[in-house]
Amino acid sequence: MSDVVHIGMLGCGTVGQGVVRILQETAGTIERATGHRLEITKVLVRDLQADRPGVDPALLTADPEEILGDDSIDILIEVMGGVDPTHEWLVRALGHGTSVVTANKQLLARHGPELLAAAEEGGAELRFEASVCAAIPVIKVLRESLLAAEIESVTGIVNGTTNYILSEMRRTGMSYADALTQAQEIGYAEADPTDDVGGADAAAKMAILASIAFHTRVLIDDVPYSGIDDLMSDDVDIAHELGFVMKLLGVARLVDGAVSVRVHPALVPGNHPLAAVAGADNAVLLESSMVRQIMLSGPGAGGTETASAVVSDALSILGSRPGSFLAGALVDAGRPIAPEGSLESAFYLRLEVADQPGVLARVSSVLGDSGVSILTVLQRGEGEGARLVMILHRSPEAQVREATRRLAAMPEVRAEPVVITVVGSGEASS
Ligand code: NAP
Ligand code: HSE
Repeated sequence: MSDVVHIGMLGCGTVGQGVVRILQETAGTIERATGHRLEITKVLVRDLQADRPGVDPALLTADPEEILGDDSIDILIEVMGGVDPTHEWLVRALGHGTSVVTANKQLLARHGPELLAAAEEGGAELRFEASVCAAIPVIKVLRESLLAAEIESVTGIVNGTTNYILSEMRRTGMSYADALTQAQEIGYAEADPTDDVGGADAAAKMAILASIAFHTRVLIDDVPYSGIDDLMSDDVDIAHELGFVMKLLGVARLVDGAVSVRVHPALVPGNHPLAAVAGADNAVLLESSMVRQIMLSGPGAGGTETASAVVSDALSILGSRPGSFLAGALVDAGRPIAPEGSLESAFYLRLEVADQPGVLARVSSVLGDSGVSILTVLQRGEGEGARLVMILHRSPEAQVREATRRLAAMPEVRAEPVVITVVGSGEASS
């Protein structure tokens, strides 16, 4: 493959525009890391006049032949959706040896085996990470890392739109209809959201996951499903009162050696790891006696998030070539190493001090002189002395260490101060 990799695209909507933007913004990084320059050759759309910010109108075409008939295209990215004519077009491209990246779960859950066979015959690759759980690399993990892990069950929140609707109804008291409208506006929902709320989107994704996890051909027709379109908001509230969270779950498991896959609303105990997955996030819990439990979670829908998985798949295709950049040495992007102590954080500080008047004021003034401010203070008498515990506002670590050295030198401080980083509070991460 030459240094320039020609990309053809089918579709330029929510996900497609994300792909164009990521390829533009990361062109330098990609070229440095892989030795390849990814160039979009043509992009198929229906309406040439529609508003597509950041997309060069000269790239657009409404004629599929300009892409399908172009032998110079190395990788075809399909982000157009639908089963027809997409199915026929992808079989044609793969048969000609053009590798394909697709985000199209409905197509894969119906014609996946046939598409993979066409890829094999044509000597091409078919990659589809973005078809399930958007940015979460669950397919790669199942296909590669856990290939021989004898997975026994896959339980997942695999539809972002419904998780968003259920979360927002509970969080804000919003109506089902308003939450769905918001999910559509943000770009989580399918062009026709019936598949999202009715469960067909999750069923397609679970068919794909079950096929890979259990090394078995599972198609969407093998997956009974129901959605959240019949649920009452009262059910969501009552579930909460009982200590449960309502989720649309995909459940795939081995039952007496047979594969069972279903999608349905379910009550999840409030302390279950899946209960905390909110908004359009997805999560997949993989279980096997070998690895016990592995949960992958993250953004499950959205243009940029999905596009990032699409671009990663295109790079994986380049990386799978013999002698590719993935087999090579580490890439040096020329970034400097951050000096020790430059990281900002909030801190916990414990001091054992003499119980004398004015000690707290002197400690505060040492911290203040070092530019470190106090968020909370706790003081407790401990025999002859006192224990001072403080949470310090976010500041550079070096500043806090310097203040601590000065505190340690105070005659009233009786033991080496203890400093521990606080992670994950708003203070530490804002
Ligand atoms: P979208 O916003 O509706 O975009 C679809 C694009 O494809 C549009 O540019 C449309 O052209 C074009 N298109 C559709 N049918 C066409 C046809 N017959 N001929 C030529 N062009 C056609 O959809 P999307 O949200 O980006 O989703 C694309 C795919 O990604 C779907 O398979 C979806 O299931 C999948 N996906 C989406 C998400 C998400 O969060 N949105 C996440 C994961 C996977 P016009 O612009 O002219 O209408
Ligand atoms: N409509 C899908 C969802 C997009 O809401 O999960 C991601 O596949």
